[in-house]
Amino acid sequence: MSNKCCYDFFMDPVEKAFLTKLRKKLLEEAKGKILEIGSGTGVNFELYNNHQVVAIEPDKKLRDESLKKINGRNITIISGDAENLDFDDNEFDTVVVTLVLCTIPDYKKSLLEIKRVCKKGGKILVLEHVRHRNKALALLQDILTPGWKKIALGCHLNRPTVEVIESLDFKIVNKEYHIGNNFALLEIENN
Ligand SMILES: C[S@@+](CC[C@H](N)C(=O)[O-])C[C@H]1O[C@@H](n2cnc3c(N)ncnc32)[C@H](O)[C@@H]1O
Repeated sequence: MSNKCCYDFFMDPVEKAFLTKLRKKLLEEAKGKILEIGSGTGVNFELYNNHQVVAIEPDKKLRDESLKKINGRNITIISGDAENLDFDDNEFDTVVVTLVLCTIPDYKKSLLEIKRVCKKGGKILVLEHVRHRNKALALLQDILTPGWKKIALGCHLNRPTVEVIESLDFKIVNKEYHIGNNFALLEIENN
């Protein structure tokens, strides 16, 4: 898709306004061996310090772009699909999921895969824009999503991600809504 090359350019004002702050807050909880799902252009990479990170990203162009952001950190980027993770059970201490459940076609399946590869007692850290709790705004998200998907790498504005995570019986230990309830930040303890 042509807008892949411009992802960072378009996201920069949003990152500066609030997203980077939310990412930092989320990643403070990241520990041990980390799996990042759908790492895109590697926006989270500069927020890792002495972590060991495996990042999966199915899109080669985005993977290549993200290589520039490694800067000597212990980050390995590989091709991968969150719906069928090519890792053993209980392999990671932390799984990082930012702005990606909105895009993965079968995001429920990917959540179950994330649960499988994360150690019991490990952390699943989620930052997603979500379906609005206000019905009129949720309807607006439904109306905008078909067009938005075409220009925003398949992103759905209207997914009820928090409710789906709750329905799959994840143990959410911290749940915060930000930016007019449009963004959810979740710390999940894998059970
Ligand atoms: C909006 S971008 C977010 C990138 C990054 N996580 C961030 O926080 O900026 C969504 C990403 O999800 C990736 N993606 C889409 N389907 C996927 C799948 N099945 N498995 C893993 N990643 C996927 C896309 O290639 C894209 O990089």
